[in-house]
Amino acid sequence: MALADREDALSDWLAGHGVAQDWVLGPELAAAGADVDWCERVAAVAGEAALAAGLEWVASTLETTGLLAEVKDSTRRISDLVAAVRSYSQLDRASMQRTDVAEGLESTLMTLAHRVPAGVTVVREYAADVPRIQALAGELNQLWTHLVDNALDAMDGAGTLRVRTGWERSAVVVEVGDTGAGMTEEVRAHAFDPFFTTKGVGEGTGLGLDISRRIVERHGGDIGIDPRPRETVLRVRLPSVGPAARARPAAGTAG
Ligand SMILES: Nc1ncnc2c1ncn2[C@@H]1O[C@H](COP(=O)(O)OP(=O)(O)OP(=O)(O)O)[C@@H](O)[C@H]1O
Ligand SMILES: [Mg+2]
Repeated sequence: MALADREDALSDWLAGHGVAQDWVLGPELAAAGADVDWCERVAAVAGEAALAAGLEWVASTLETTGLLAEVKDSTRRISDLVAAVRSYSQLDRASMQRTDVAEGLESTLMTLAHRVPAGVTVVREYAADVPRIQALAGELNQLWTHLVDNALDAMDGAGTLRVRTGWERSAVVVEVGDTGAGMTEEVRAHAFDPFFTTKGVGEGTGLGLDISRRIVERHGGDIGIDPRPRETVLRVRLPSVGPAARARPAAGTAG
């Protein structure tokens, strides 16, 4: 079926299932390779109640990760999407709240203040226009704690801890950088593996980054290591979902 026909069929299906953003989601899902059959399967696993939010979340995740660019109807893609909606619909929606990442970073830094030695300078670079994101705020604070913990460990008493927020194409970006020991290629390759640690017995369990990655993925984002000259940067991207962050025809702007 041609893309335009699939878009129309999807938009009709969405409208028929009470999904409000049919005119936006139809084309987005069509571009990702979804069709009406796929929507039927999603409706079966997610249930009508979670359908609209789940589809919106998937569409925005696809958009953020650039998957919309590679258009194909592969079975694998379809089952990934179904799995994504299923995990979304199982999230504890009640605790999802619009979250300011800089606020979370600040409260984390406050909690860890006693761990910051006198020789470590903390530099904050919070961009002004970062949108709030739909997130489990407590989990994000856990995530920041793991990253700051690692940075402090790596610096061994002296250096600069840099905490940065920014905003790029439908994702909020948070970076935690340190001027510590850095990672070898080998460590970088395994840093996210569960139980991988270079720390001594009783000092590290090797779960910090494994847990961090799970938290990030639960929010539909990604995390990576960005080694820069004299700085090790852990970079987190979290999709921003919600009306403020998504391109959408202006509604109700009369006049
Ligand atoms: N900022 C960093 N600079 C240098 N190495 C790092 C940094 N962050 C992580 N690593 C490396 O990655 C490994 C895995 O990190 P992870 O947080 O998963 O476990 P851990 O810190 O060793 O133990 P845990 O966090 O469970 O107490 C670390 O042991 C360390 O070698
Ligand atoms: Mg750690």
